[in-house]
Amino acid sequence: MNAVEFLINAAYLVVAALFILGLKAMSSPVTAKRGIQWAGIGMVLATVATFFVPGMDGTNMILMVIAMAIGGGVAWYAAIKVKMTDMPQMVAIYNGMGGGAAGLIAAIEFAGGQVHNPIVAIMAVLGALIGSVAFSGSIIAFLKLQGIMNKTLKLPMGNMANLILFAATVLLGILVVTTQHPLFIVLFFIAAAALGVLIVSPIGGADMPVVISLLNAFTGLAVGFEGYVLGNPALIIAGIVVGAAGSLLTMLMAKAMNRPIRNVIFTPITGEVLEGHQIEGTMKEMSSMDAAASLRYAQKVIIVPGYGMAVAGAQHKIWELTKLLQNEGIVVKFAIHPVAGRMPGHMNVLLAEAGVPYDDIFDLDEINDEFPDADVALVIGANDTVNPVARTDKSSPIYGMPILDADKAKEAIVIKRGKGAGYSGIQNALFFAENTKMLYGSAQQAVADIITNLKTLL
Ligand code: TAP
Repeated sequence: MNAVEFLINAAYLVVAALFILGLKAMSSPVTAKRGIQWAGIGMVLATVATFFVPGMDGTNMILMVIAMAIGGGVAWYAAIKVKMTDMPQMVAIYNGMGGGAAGLIAAIEFAGGQVHNPIVAIMAVLGALIGSVAFSGSIIAFLKLQGIMNKTLKLPMGNMANLILFAATVLLGILVVTTQHPLFIVLFFIAAAALGVLIVSPIGGADMPVVISLLNAFTGLAVGFEGYVLGNPALIIAGIVVGAAGSLLTMLMAKAMNRPIRNVIFTPITGEVLEGHQIEGTMKEMSSMDAAASLRYAQKVIIVPGYGMAVAGAQHKIWELTKLLQNEGIVVKFAIHPVAGRMPGHMNVLLAEAGVPYDDIFDLDEINDEFPDADVALVIGANDTVNPVARTDKSSPIYGMPILDADKAKEAIVIKRGKGAGYSGIQNALFFAENTKMLYGSAQQAVADIITNLKTLL
């Protein structure tokens, strides 16, 4: 190893440390910004080191600079423009690019006839298969989340068709490894990309975060395999880190939804309203003035935001309401369910954007014991995540999912537009409970009305 190679490898070691430390720091909102910066510095260092890899000629360097300028420019512009609510599709499309890049590495290596070692050829094909599925699957996820593709495409005997296509792709992969014939290479990539399209197309919008996280793990794996093909330790480490983190996140989300990953892929939720067990009682409506009075004379209020808060963009009004209550000496806390909304951390990001301090925001485990002490649980656009049926009804699709115990507060006020079900399509026993009142309306307007009335009581 000469001095330049030594320095490049040393740089890659530092890069690996920065990626791992960055990821660790991202696990808390307090240190997340620092984590992003460390990982970003790692990425810059890895890119700079790559320019010094032996064998790099002037043409390569010019092409790399042009590609970086185009990719970096587009990403910079998109990142500045993107709205917080559009973040899932942005993650999806960038993830897809990673998978596509991994697939391209394999394609170029095979097309250039540079894969002589059979182990390397197997790694290249594995990376290409996983990367291509991640690429096309992520594009479908993006199109759905962006509202460009609305329909869930369901082939008759879809799972069987996927299985046959998967077997054909593996067969083509074996032919690529053994013959490296251009026709097989092209057919293999077409089949792998089609597989990604067919797997993700039937999956409904609400399952998309789990799918994106799974595809993200695929991209990491694919990058790791192609890192082996190129003999590049930075790519191998980055790939393994992304693959492991993506797999863990996917498992955590599936667990918090009480929905095995195989169900997400093979029996997607269609959004149809389910019957479930009959729930006794009636929904009792209240006015915004009554809600304001309940809050004004409470000592402790726990706010439970959900998907409806995100759709209505009600976080700023909610923070305004919180400040008014806190000024009166009322304790106000926010309770966040791990899968509230439609992506991990959805509620935390929106509340932080509105200015809610991290110290007022609590996870399910931290706050659930406090509900019996709360005078009011104010549920804003949340449904499944506060449905007590999850504790009691074994036939329910959400049975076993941990929920926020809003029903245990002295009074529950639920803000939603109508009597519609939540994401899982089942009735919510909380809405029928004796101590629950419904305030119908879109979250932002309903909270604004409470604020107006509250001000008359201060
Ligand atoms: P949901 O169960 O989806 O319920 C949201 C409620 O918000 C609906 O009942 C809806 O009722 C109401 N809503 C919609 N628009 C509104 C508006 N403009 N103003 C006021 N209310 C509005 O929400 P959740 O409790 O946050 O639960 C999340 C669900 O998504 C869980 O089932 C979870 O498993 C699933 N999920 C989450 C994730 C992640 S990672 N977060 C990933 C996949 C799936 P109306 O129509 O009557 O207004």
